[in-house]
Amino acid sequence: MGIYQIAVDGPSGSGKSTLAKGVAAKLGIMYLDTGAMYRTCGLCALKKGIDPKDEAQVNAMLDDLKVEVKFEDGSQHMILNGEDVTGQIRTPEVSMAASSVSAHPALRTKMVEMQREIAKSQTFILDGRDIASNVLPNAKYKFYVTAPAEVRAERRLAELKERGDESQNYDEVLRDIIQRDEQDMNRAVSPLVQVPEAVVIDTSAIDIDQTRDLLISYIEEVK
Ligand code: DC
Repeated sequence: MGIYQIAVDGPSGSGKSTLAKGVAAKLGIMYLDTGAMYRTCGLCALKKGIDPKDEAQVNAMLDDLKVEVKFEDGSQHMILNGEDVTGQIRTPEVSMAASSVSAHPALRTKMVEMQREIAKSQTFILDGRDIASNVLPNAKYKFYVTAPAEVRAERRLAELKERGDESQNYDEVLRDIIQRDEQDMNRAVSPLVQVPEAVVIDTSAIDIDQTRDLLISYIEEVK
């Protein structure tokens, strides 16, 4: 069958991670959550008291920033300078820091190199913002996953509640989603874009299993 890559891009809370995870499980392929890598960098900045928006400070942090991705029992673990931080990267504060640090070109170059290296030796589905446009422009399959901001905010709120995180109400979650959209779509380097050849999937219309099966219906290897 050979190795192929599936690129899934879309805004925050579009459901792309859940979708990509579901596709990977059903097809028996690997899944790389690239957002988790930027989240780990954002967390590093916060831990060091660095302003995630300050490019000079973030660049200075890169020298001793060691981000590793480990796949254990089918789940992705993020290791920051030797520490497993997987459980620390889903807070609203880290989300915003990730969005801010991800605007800096030197940091992106470092992450993109790692992503290409990880994805080259096996069949992978990757999700992020710039997978089809920049990381793997030759990916065999490209999807753009989206939903209205209000739907994404409701989902994010439910996710946070499930994790016992009650630090934000609906209006705050929606405000953060809109701000992250703005940052992620308008930055100078590799902004979130919908490449013309991508198949667009709106996740507000159908449930997650149907969305997963819809995506899989485009993959020739399973036909
Ligand atoms: O997908 P996510 O919400 O976990 O991503 C966190 C942030 O990382 C997001 O706001 C933008 C950034 N990001 C990016 O710039 N490029 C990617 N490929 C993935 C995420």
